[in-house]
This record gives sequence, structure tokens and C-alpha cells, in this order.
Amino acid sequence: MIVGIPKEIAPGERRVSLVPDAISRLKGLSVLVQAGAGEESGFKDFSYLERGAELAESPKEVYGRSDIVLKVQPPTAEEADLFKEGSVLISFLYPMSNLDVLRRMSSRRMSAFAMELMPRISRAQPMDALSSQATISGYKAVLIAANSLPKLFPMMMTAAGTIPPARVFVIGAGVAGLQAIAVSKRLGAVVEAYDVRPVVKEQVASLGAKFVELPLKVEDSQTAGGYAKAQSEDFYKRQQQLLGEHAASADVVITTALVPGQRAPILISEEAVKKMRAGSVIVDLAAEQGGNCALTEPGKTVVKYGVTIHGPLNLPSSMAQQASQLYSRNITSFLLVMLKDGSITIDTKDELVRGPLVVLNGEIVHEQARKAL
Ligand code: NAI
Repeated sequence: MIVGIPKEIAPGERRVSLVPDAISRLKGLSVLVQAGAGEESGFKDFSYLERGAELAESPKEVYGRSDIVLKVQPPTAEEADLFKEGSVLISFLYPMSNLDVLRRMSSRRMSAFAMELMPRISRAQPMDALSSQATISGYKAVLIAANSLPKLFPMMMTAAGTIPPARVFVIGAGVAGLQAIAVSKRLGAVVEAYDVRPVVKEQVASLGAKFVELPLKVEDSQTAGGYAKAQSEDFYKRQQQLLGEHAASADVVITTALVPGQRAPILISEEAVKKMRAGSVIVDLAAEQGGNCALTEPGKTVVKYGVTIHGPLNLPSSMAQQASQLYSRNITSFLLVMLKDGSITIDTKDELVRGPLVVLNGEIVHEQARKAL
């Protein structure tokens, strides 16, 4: 069986789905890598060749010859038309935004798995690509903030005077938020954090940050999978007001709040930005899902009311080398679960396999996507 690694073609995507070191994990499989696939993440063709991979000159060759394709970004319609009949795709897939691609894969009797749909159970932790990539985003968000804040993060006592530490407020203390707290602490900032899920309070405290309690009644904030649940409009209105008051005293606000399958909740309103100090910085990690700040422009950095607002997209790609290493570990761990005696067995009774399964032998099994089609 051949495992194919195409070069990613999405604008700004520098990651690769399989790094050379991961090839040895795929015992009994042949690896076919498109020439230049790892170039932008720091993995040269010869490193793949050294570990026994074969190089393909074109995407047509990789897709056309591979029984299993490992990718980072969902395939485009053009890529989907290149797959071999009956082959298997594992990648980020976002089925509801890629219905046409699903249709094309279905007509080729393919099976496809979406990495973002991995269940949050302990067995799936090595395969949790959302977490591995969010860790990188959380780290990078702090560097972006530190770089554009006209202040130092740590407290400094110098002969010329004492410099107070920067104040960082992290909203959303999930995987990215916790990493942002840890990195901000290491840079010497005073850090506060808030999340709608009260269970994270201890994790925030264990990183040396203060958990901000808001006088808001949250009855049902968390799904069985650990994700946040959407709240009512009234709740969000009140939350905006309270968070705004808090953000006014911060130098840096890092927002990471997401609710799966929905637009990110707006937590920092225009009014709140107006009240922030001139020179302060917002890094909105929810920009890809519309943003947690009302003034965020996804993919851009804007200055509004003296506040610099960053809406970065695909931050993991900006640290492509390690993002690829982690992703590669995630995707190979998942592939190995299904690999038996050199071929793939899709055991739909296993929740680990069923969770990310979107297309099975041409049949679209993702409930929402099937209905939409
Ligand atoms: P996420 O990326 O979907 O959301 C980020 C954070 O935003 C979450 O902590 C969420 O509670 C928060 N949020 C949503 N709406 C908010 C609002 N209105 N106000 C304030 N905060 C809001 O979630 P992420 O980071 O992917 O994971 C969340 C949690 O899932 C983790 O903290 C962990 O407990 C759990 N998890 C479990 C795993 C496992 O058991 N295998 C693996 C990864 C995470």
C-alpha cells in the first residue's frame, strides 16, 4: 500500500502532513512524497529519500498512485478529482464547508476522515491535532502581543526607574489559552484569565495566573467532550459588559473563545475597545471563526481607538516545522490504529474511528453533511 504526501496548495499553508522522521512508524507501507512537499516547513526532499520514501514529480502522480493520502488542509475540488478510486484520505476536512469535495470523494468510492473530529477521549490524545496546533497558536499569540506592545512584559528595576510588569488578560482558557498564560508568565507578565467553563479555574491557578470570576450565572457550560456550550444572547451581552470593564485595565488581551460549529462569540465589543488604554494590544485567536472582538478583521492587523488588534489566521503554519512534526505524530498515530497487516481496516464500532469518519466507501456518513447534500 502506498501512502501519499502531497504538497499543500492552500494560500499561506507551509505545513506538511508527514515529516521524514515519521516514515519509520509506517512499517509495511511505501511512502510517496511530492517533490518539495516539506520544503516550506524545513524538510528537504533528500531527508525523505534517506528514510526510504519515493519522490513524485506532480500532484497528479501522488493522488493517482496513493491508496492513502495524508494532508493538512482539506482538498480543493481540483485535488479531489485526482484521487484514486477507493482510496482513503486523512486530513482536516471541515465537512460542512466542503460539501462539493465530499460529493467528489463519494463518487470515487473513497473513505475520508476529518482530523478535527477526533473524539476527546484519553485514547485519542496522541491523535488530537486541534490541541497540538492550538498549543502553537497560544505560544505565537503571546509573541505577537509582546512584539507590538510598546511596553516590556517583565518588571524591571533599573537605575533609571522601576518598570511595572505588563498585564495580560486571556479570555478562553482551553488549550491555546492555557499555553498563552504559560508563555506570558514566562515573559514576566501579570496574567489573569477567564473562561465560561468553571472547571478550568484550577488549571489557570496552577500556571500562576489569577482566574477572573464574573458575576454571571452559568448553568450548563460544557459538553461531554470538554467543549464550551453556546449561551443565550442575554448572557453574551452581560458577559461583554463585564469583560469590557476588565479588559480596560489590561495591556494585552488574548482571546481564544470558541464554540464548536458556531461563529465565535463576541466578547470584546467596540465600546470595550474604546475604553482600553492607547497602545494596548488585542490578539484575537478566534479570527478564523469570525473573531471574539467586534473590531477584528480576520487576517489583518488594524489600529482602532489607539488599540492594535491582530486577527491572525493559521498561526500554526507560521511555526511550520514543529507544527508539522506534531501534526505528523497525530496523523500517523491515527493511521496506525486502523492498520492491520499492511492494510486498512475501518472498524466503525470503534468510537476513535467512527468519530472522524466522514465518508465510508463512497457513502457520506457525517450526519449533518449528508442532510445538507
Ligand atoms: P476550544 O478551542 O473549542 O475553545 C477555547 C476555549 O474557549 C474553551 O476553553 C472554551 O470553554 C472557551 N469559551 C467558549 N466560549 C466562551 C465564552 N463565551 N467565554 C469565555 N470562554 C469561552 O476548546 P479547546 O481549547 O480545544 O478545548 C477545551 C477543553 O477540552 C480543554 O481545556 C480540555 O479540558 C478539553 N480537552 C480534552 C481533551 C481530551 O480529553 N482528549 C483534549 C483536548 C482538550
